Amino acid sequence: MEALDRHLQWDSQRWSDAIVMDFGCGSGLLSLPLARRCRKLYAVEPSEGMLTTLKDRHHNQPHPRGVIEPVQIYLNDQTVGQLNGQRFDLIVSSMVCHHLPDLPSTITLLASLLAPNGCLVVFDLENDGNACWFHDEQAKIDSGVIADDGFDCQYMREVFCRTGLRVELCETDFFCTKTVLDKEGKEICVVFSVLVVVGRRNV
Ligand SMILES: C[S@@+](CC[C@H](N)C(=O)[O-])C[C@H]1O[C@@H](n2cnc3c(N)ncnc32)[C@H](O)[C@@H]1O
Repeated sequence: MEALDRHLQWDSQRWSDAIVMDFGCGSGLLSLPLARRCRKLYAVEPSEGMLTTLKDRHHNQPHPRGVIEPVQIYLNDQTVGQLNGQRFDLIVSSMVCHHLPDLPSTITLLASLLAPNGCLVVFDLENDGNACWFHDEQAKIDSGVIADDGFDCQYMREVFCRTGLRVELCETDFFCTKTVLDKEGKEICVVFSVLVVVGRRNV
């Protein structure tokens, strides 16, 4: 939330009017604080287990907890109809892109779901040479991780521009550390850089 606030600088009025999607929301780390701010938060996620955790967490939040619409779909051109034509003032995607089989077509789809002046904000691993350590080998097999080398800013900028979005920001945003197992099974602490891309749909 802190990173989003830094980049969007929306006032409380803008937030309280906003219809927001958390694309690939997982168990709702971002969805819960987002829902407290906006008019309605669509939590889009294919995993029933993740959405159940999100709903439980949401239920246990103190008031005001905001309005969450869980949407259990793997979002693509075939399933987008289940959003019933809803347009979004903000679509946020955190650590989802490196799981996507076709990033450009998903970014094109998300861009098409923005309301006029709406923003698409993506956070994901940067290709700093460490990104391949983020998931362990078994997790990669289990989760079907696809592009685990991360992304560089220039590529992301091109992908966003091709959809017609105006790129307002594309840069390394913050660093996080994670303890992982090296090839000998020894624990090592790895620093990962996370990039942010902010694209706006022109009115
Ligand atoms: C690494 S998790 C990130 C979860 C959450 N955004 C966070 O930052 O904690 C990636 C999530 O994206 C979801 N995901 C991947 N592709 C998706 C798609 N096409 N539509 C919706 N969710 C998707 C996965 O099911 C998974 O829960």
